[in-house]
Amino acid sequence: MNNLPLAKTPPMGWNSWNSFGSNISDELIRSVADKLVELGLKDAGYEYVIIDDFWSELERNGQGRLVADKKKFPDGIKPLADYVHSKGLKFGIYSCAGTHTCDGYPGSFEHEFVDAATFAEWGVDYLKYDYCYKPVHSVGENLYKRMGMALRSCGRDMVFSVCNWGCDNVSNWIRESGAHLYRSTGDIQDNWQSIKSIAESQLDRECYGGTYCWNDMDMLVVGMDGKGDNDFVSNVPDRLAGCTETEYKTHFALWAMMNSPLIIGCNLNNISDEALKILSNREVIAINQDLEGRGPYRIRHWCNPDHAFALIKPLCGGDYAIGMFNLGDNASEMSLQFFDIGLPYSSGYGLSFRECFSGKDEGVFTERRAIKLEPHDCRIYRCKLTKVNSL
Ligand code: GLA
Repeated sequence: MNNLPLAKTPPMGWNSWNSFGSNISDELIRSVADKLVELGLKDAGYEYVIIDDFWSELERNGQGRLVADKKKFPDGIKPLADYVHSKGLKFGIYSCAGTHTCDGYPGSFEHEFVDAATFAEWGVDYLKYDYCYKPVHSVGENLYKRMGMALRSCGRDMVFSVCNWGCDNVSNWIRESGAHLYRSTGDIQDNWQSIKSIAESQLDRECYGGTYCWNDMDMLVVGMDGKGDNDFVSNVPDRLAGCTETEYKTHFALWAMMNSPLIIGCNLNNISDEALKILSNREVIAINQDLEGRGPYRIRHWCNPDHAFALIKPLCGGDYAIGMFNLGDNASEMSLQFFDIGLPYSSGYGLSFRECFSGKDEGVFTERRAIKLEPHDCRIYRCKLTKVNSL
């Protein structure tokens, strides 16, 4: 352990759940580690390779230890973690605060300390910790504090990723449990309605996330294109699976601006160029990974249509990130009055706008910025205060 805090910025990585569900294997996880390097995603900041549910045998061994599924992971977990580490990446695994995981595998309830020790022996760097099968009379807050304590006793630095779907007022007590990130909503699905409802449910809750304990809006569906091999995520009744490129771009922009961890959920073995471009956008990632870790606030001008709003996030060094979003279904004019973000005309300052997806400098604006946005589209700007007249 190096005695340095973990998760100074929102964790970034890849998780098996969205695209693979139960279809995971040693071979798959190794190929993900290879791909993160080959595709340049490691260099862009994606660091953790995380196995979700379905990795263990249905029973613990004679010593009460968790055992990896012998067919999926014939050599066990340690050599796999070693392989991931050999690529300069970090390795994550999954368990549950209840008696069983959501899919019926052994959970860590009353086994917290032995499981933390097992994970440490295997070289695990990140634990996602779910909430299914929590005994009714056990208090979730206490169970997460227990695993937080177990991880701190195990002798290895491990990011603690809590997944209780926003239940039991988790945002009020999670930071003190030692968790580094916590899920605040139900599971994401590969469709626009899901993205929109998760994002809108978390607007105005930004004060609950920050450095060392982030509000996790769930894994990214960017690039899944309706092809995921997990019915919970892709095959949702009455909804068309998959999103347009614009929708995936807006999804990424929202998660980045709102300081959510960026955990890729698509299949990297057949990722499209468009999805790779979105996920690799260094300027958008830099806004998410900004060292001050301030959440954005929302401004919706009275004359803007419903579902059209701006998010404003102060960045370290004096810049501001400004996102303009149209989550509605009609093309919209929308505007941001600088007065509303603390910049009256009388200050003598304007803002220079650089759009992060296009990489274009769009010039200096005073008083207001108005743009037209297609349905579900957005712009993400890095803005600098610029002197425009001497008063
Ligand atoms: C829950 C979690 C998901 C995933 C599944 C696995 O639903 O919220 O992210 O881990 O369990 O079964």
